[in-house]
Amino acid sequence: MSKKIAVGVDIGGTGIKSAPVNLKNGKFAEERYRIPTPQPSTPDAIARTVAKCITRFEPSADTAVGVAFPGVIQHGVVKTAANLDESWIGVNLRELIRQHAGHDVFVMNDADAAGFGEHRYGAAHGADGVILMTTLGTGIGSALIADGELVPNTEFGHTIIDGEIAEHWAAESARTRLDLDWDGWIVNLQRFYDEMEKLLWPDLIIVGGGVSKSHHMFLPKLNLRAPIIPAELRNGAGIVGAASWAAAAAKRADKREKASAKDAQKKPSKKPKK
Ligand code: BGC
Repeated sequence: MSKKIAVGVDIGGTGIKSAPVNLKNGKFAEERYRIPTPQPSTPDAIARTVAKCITRFEPSADTAVGVAFPGVIQHGVVKTAANLDESWIGVNLRELIRQHAGHDVFVMNDADAAGFGEHRYGAAHGADGVILMTTLGTGIGSALIADGELVPNTEFGHTIIDGEIAEHWAAESARTRLDLDWDGWIVNLQRFYDEMEKLLWPDLIIVGGGVSKSHHMFLPKLNLRAPIIPAELRNGAGIVGAASWAAAAAKRADKREKASAKDAQKKPSKKPKK
């Protein structure tokens, strides 16, 4: 597999999806592969499925592989899993997938992956300023990108607004669970995004998740300061973002390694210390 390709995997509540991504244009280099998410969604069952999603494309040893997960990930470790089996908390996801797939991976939050992907190749391509990405699905995912830098694990969907966790009443899943029509849901969305604007003052808001396909049903009715626009990469954003983030992370790690090897080679200075 060429260096211009990285593999992305997106772990979702209903499906685990993967594809090799062309890093030049953010497009899938081969058709996307999907396996239903095993139930119960325990770490071993999911890691086995993720491994299949990776090995299917036979990545070479130096191909970057990125995996997006629907919870907080800090230094490879799962810290929250609001919509998955709770046995996930504390699991070293990076290590677990490495064991199953026999390939090193980079892991990150799914909304962070989507936001990164949209900034690289999609709706916010190369934009400066503060960009807020939100994904409306089972939960609400968020990504904050300021002048091109991603601030990971923002979790704005878990903001408590009017005494309740926002994603419980503003996520796409709440629309059906609470039996809301579009207008009823839009009232909730307006409340959520009003609060986001009050706290973050974004220059641009991007809305992803399956429901963004129907963006014309709700985005034009929201009244906000910042432009609010649909994601462009749609369902592929998590895969594309995870792949490109992994490629960038691999490059950084490579640079660091080379720099420290160079440092180690440097002869100690002969100047006596004062
Ligand atoms: C999780 C986030 C995730 C979002 C979308 C939320 O419930 O806490 O980490 O990004 O769902 O999957």
